[in-house]
Amino acid sequence: MGNSFKAMNSSLPMRSNKCGELRTSHIQSEVTLCGWVDRCRDHGGVIFIDLRDRSGTVQITIDPDQGDEMFSTAESLRTESVIQINGVVRARPKEAINSKIQTGEIEILAKYLNVLNPVKGTLPFTVSVHDEEPIREEIRLKHRYLDLRREKMSKNIQIRHKLIRTARRFLEAEGFIEVETPILTKSTPEGARDYLLPSRVCEGQWFALPQSPQIFKQLLMIGGIEKYYQIARCFRDEDLRADRQPEFTQLDIEMSFMNQEEILEINEKLIASIWKQLKGVSLTLPFPRMTWMEAMNRYGTDRPDTRYNMELKDISEVAKTIRFKVFSGAVASGGSVKCINVKNGNDLISNVRIKPGGDVFTEAQKAGAGGLAFIRVRESLEIDTIGAIKSNLSDQQKESILRITEAEPGDLLLFGAGETTMVNKTLDRIRQFLALELNLISDKENWNFLWIIDFPMFEFNVEENRLEALHHPFCSPNPNDVGNDSKTWSSDLPKARAQAYDLVLNGLELGGGSIRIHNSELQKAVLNTIGLPPEQAQKQFGFLTDALDMGAPPHGGLAFGIDRIVMLLTGAESIRETIAFPKTQQARCLMTQAPSKASDKQLKELHVQSTWIEPDEGSSK
Ligand code: AMO
Repeated sequence: MGNSFKAMNSSLPMRSNKCGELRTSHIQSEVTLCGWVDRCRDHGGVIFIDLRDRSGTVQITIDPDQGDEMFSTAESLRTESVIQINGVVRARPKEAINSKIQTGEIEILAKYLNVLNPVKGTLPFTVSVHDEEPIREEIRLKHRYLDLRREKMSKNIQIRHKLIRTARRFLEAEGFIEVETPILTKSTPEGARDYLLPSRVCEGQWFALPQSPQIFKQLLMIGGIEKYYQIARCFRDEDLRADRQPEFTQLDIEMSFMNQEEILEINEKLIASIWKQLKGVSLTLPFPRMTWMEAMNRYGTDRPDTRYNMELKDISEVAKTIRFKVFSGAVASGGSVKCINVKNGNDLISNVRIKPGGDVFTEAQKAGAGGLAFIRVRESLEIDTIGAIKSNLSDQQKESILRITEAEPGDLLLFGAGETTMVNKTLDRIRQFLALELNLISDKENWNFLWIIDFPMFEFNVEENRLEALHHPFCSPNPNDVGNDSKTWSSDLPKARAQAYDLVLNGLELGGGSIRIHNSELQKAVLNTIGLPPEQAQKQFGFLTDALDMGAPPHGGLAFGIDRIVMLLTGAESIRETIAFPKTQQARCLMTQAPSKASDKQLKELHVQSTWIEPDEGSSK
């Protein structure tokens, strides 16, 4: 090719256009493009290259008439090689128009081809959508840079960017300013384990990575910032699930001099602007609200998916009178008996599935249930059950159950009996499982936003035998439950509701927040309630309670999980699809192989000694 290509001249821009932006309006223009070889096809003497950059792909035609050297270079091109093309845009012949891609009406007749970086070695997988075959996630994560070139990942990352940009614009227009808070910090209690970092300089002492910027954003309010936001990286060492990462990003917000109503209002407007911008959907405001108590009663969870019914029905009152020990015993020991009604379940779900070993039964077991009682409602409301219930059921009891559950012939009733938390967990799990199995979610793009409000301040931690904060210990109690008289706080607080709220979308918690405590005495009383006596509270949170006494304004806020919002916007099954470089379920980066061992020298400098003993290689044989 002799490299006479003028665009190679380093004083000229490397490219004039992006691949995906070329249209019929560009016909006759000379363009210089850069990108990756998506695929190469030899069509009897003419080579077609699909050239791809972030904007999309365009077809390049290499005609031997334009030069033998260029043609032979094109013949040897391997996919994913990086090339530069110079040529003229022309219309495709009618029969070659591809309406599936936006550049499908044109092509570039290449004059020059310059290989900027050929691919060496074998690619672990193909990037092009044309060859897309299922690729194991480990391989994708190991070569994430290649994976990011794939159309789906590239789109997800761009949607993530657009989401952050929209949020920034909205919040800035509302007078919020972005402030960064420390990453090397002290434990910020959000209920997970901390990632700890030893200090080299302060021997024997440790930083914790922030689980959230919670305390700092409150201190910013005390610092007079009034309206703060941050795209904040958070770190939590917890069991991972499809919607959890050890390192994730919050859209973190805090504001002074605003009450709960105002905070909910501004945040639903923010969400509406995101959905408008990214989905072109106008959401109806205000979002519906449900108290925590109602959500637990109707769905057994504080993040209900309200796109389908199958709500939980509490039959404890009847169950306690039934001579079936699993039911009456559950209620007698303070628990409950609840049920979901699977409409037409007799036709849809066989006995094999709800008996031990079956998939529905296994779901119940995974949630902690010992068994799964059921009733099948037959024609003329006759019932069919697992033996022990039927023989002990009076007509009146049967009628009550059928009435409460609104059962009709053909329905299948599935019961949870025992400790209430476990019953809720079981039926919530089965409800979600069956919704997928029975295709109850007709439209994935049916956006059921829901505010859950009036959370309890605390829940009981059985293992530690103490109350712990349901959100975090800085949430303000509801003034209707806890008055101004500090003498009643210790008795009022444990039963109080918090001024806390979560935003739930289609069964996923998108965000949560609260009005914060700005009275130091009340803050200390709450810390005391979760088992932090005054001296310990002072040691751990003295910097906050002291600050509260120096003119803390009333304030509140919330944080959205950015990765989760992207998951919903893109329809991704896993949060890993929304993050450029995520960790695996084992909290590991397969590309860099982090975490990895530190050298003895590093450990010594950090004043740390490892207690880890390498398993004896021989012993596993
Ligand atoms: P919370 O702990 O509810 O509140 O977190 C807020 C939101 O962050 C997201 N999130 C996660 N996303 C991915 N992986 C995780 N491991 C993970 N954990 C949480 C969720 C969640 O709703 N400081 C408070 C907020 C406040 O009170 O202002 C907080 O962090 O979408």
